[in-house]
Amino acid sequence: TGPATVSPTGQPTGADQARMAQSGSYLTDAQGTRLPDTDHSLKAGPRGPVLLQDHHLREKVMHFDHERIPERVVHARGAGVHGVFRSYGTAANVTKAAFLAEDVETPVFVRFSTVLGSRGSADTVRDTRGFATKFYTSEGVFDLVGNNIPVFFIQDAIKFPDVIHAGKPHPDREIPQAQSAHDTFWDFVTLHTEAAHHTLWNMSDRGIPRSYRTMEGFGVHTFRLVNAAGETTLVKFHWKPKLGVHSLVWEEAQIINGVDPDFHRRDLYDAIEAGAYPEWEFGIQTFPDTPDQTFEGIDLLDPTNIVPEELAPVQPIGLLTLNRNPSNFFAETEQVAFHVGHLVPGIDITDDPLLAGRLFSYLDTQITRLGGPNFPQIPINRPHTPVNDMLRDGFHQTAVHRGVAPYRPNSLDGGCPFTAGADAGAFVETPVRVPEATKVREAPESFNDHFSQPRRFWLSMSPVEREHIIHAYTFELGKCYEQAIRERALQVLANIDPELCAGVAAGLGLPAPEPTVPLADVEPSPALSQIGQTWPTD
Ligand code: HEM
Repeated sequence: TGPATVSPTGQPTGADQARMAQSGSYLTDAQGTRLPDTDHSLKAGPRGPVLLQDHHLREKVMHFDHERIPERVVHARGAGVHGVFRSYGTAANVTKAAFLAEDVETPVFVRFSTVLGSRGSADTVRDTRGFATKFYTSEGVFDLVGNNIPVFFIQDAIKFPDVIHAGKPHPDREIPQAQSAHDTFWDFVTLHTEAAHHTLWNMSDRGIPRSYRTMEGFGVHTFRLVNAAGETTLVKFHWKPKLGVHSLVWEEAQIINGVDPDFHRRDLYDAIEAGAYPEWEFGIQTFPDTPDQTFEGIDLLDPTNIVPEELAPVQPIGLLTLNRNPSNFFAETEQVAFHVGHLVPGIDITDDPLLAGRLFSYLDTQITRLGGPNFPQIPINRPHTPVNDMLRDGFHQTAVHRGVAPYRPNSLDGGCPFTAGADAGAFVETPVRVPEATKVREAPESFNDHFSQPRRFWLSMSPVEREHIIHAYTFELGKCYEQAIRERALQVLANIDPELCAGVAAGLGLPAPEPTVPLADVEPSPALSQIGQTWPTD
């Protein structure tokens, strides 16, 4: 901020002009030239033709013509707000991340979203919700780009274009907009049975949250934490809403979609405006970083798996409070650019093959969406730390770099002879041993169990939640045109649970098939049910 720079006429100039634009005492064009009138084109007489020489007309319309940028290829519909994260220090033994040390406050920007709908679609559709958090830490930006569902449809990012093509509106008629009730979606998730778990969560009440304020959030992948002694721990990240987890019922969601398609963003903004700041506790499940990267037989690199909280309790490590609405939706919510590769010392990735593809995808898509490689300079994306990145030029470059030697070390710009590893505060990739292996396009054997985790979810549901799930599958599959897809979906459900399959089959008027795999012998996990949640801790 600092003192405003003002021109001799009392108008702000330079950076302050951008900040204060649209509140000055007189109007100018983009070059700062004062304008007398912006309501009339320049004409040859009041009833005559408009003149091409009207620079103001051309500039104004030209700028308007280019006001829209591409919407996000997924998660286009969203609402972002500011807040603060305060750490408890309880993770300090497992990570050296400065923002997780005791009692550190870090500014954040959080964007909630649906996945499939376009920017103008309704809020209360049945879908997964994004829960992306940008932490402006003292060591650089850390982004946790998660969802409200702890598992994903696919295990390998190479299938992401496929699952999104299947979930987006049909390519011929561009319908349906944002619901899963269509043939391509069900075709995909029944042909790729690894999707059974995520689909079951979508068909549960989690697919229609009551409010962003009452959603859990999950980092989904397993991450690797590193402490000051260099010891590593595998973790899964959780957000636990202080208001508890609540959903709409299907009929409410339908009515709200019509009456107030902005229901979720309005609810969030109104709550913050009223001072009812939503809060989430940040938590981690920790697992020993063993060479096989499994826990109690669960493959931690498979993003279709959860680890039941009864086996690995979520330990609270900090509190997120959302307390400020955006002042400019475009500048903040639309231009924010999250990326799973934005990491800080003490937080590292694992070899989850879905995460690997994401590390490429976010930067790549943002080059198109935000018009070139300089989007980290957009105010909402700027780290709250000094930047000395040696990156130069490019579309929409706003920095005026000084010096003659944009490389390091150099002997021309005053040195900075940094040698690798000399800076103790640097992000250094954890030296994880890569097993000797042959290049293959294959998934590990352990990725082949597609039904035991959805079965655990189903067995953990209360009777009313089960009723809702059966109703959701029946409704959505009832919209499919292809009978073969409905039948294949029933086969997937039979492999999860006979009661679930029988309920949906009855609703569709079809016979219930027998399972083709033995039903998994799994214990329910009460923490998966929204009924009788024991969180929050206090
Ligand atoms: C956007 C979550 C998998 C590509 C997003 C957003 C979230 C998210 C929350 C919205 C960010 C925002 O609000 O701006 C996840 C989760 C995943 C996952 C939790 C799985 C665990 C993937 C994969 C890919 C991918 C596998 C690609 C290989 C994208 C792209 C965007 C996006 C291209 C748009 C980003 C932008 O335009 O800024 N994702 N995603 N995602 N995701 Fe993912």
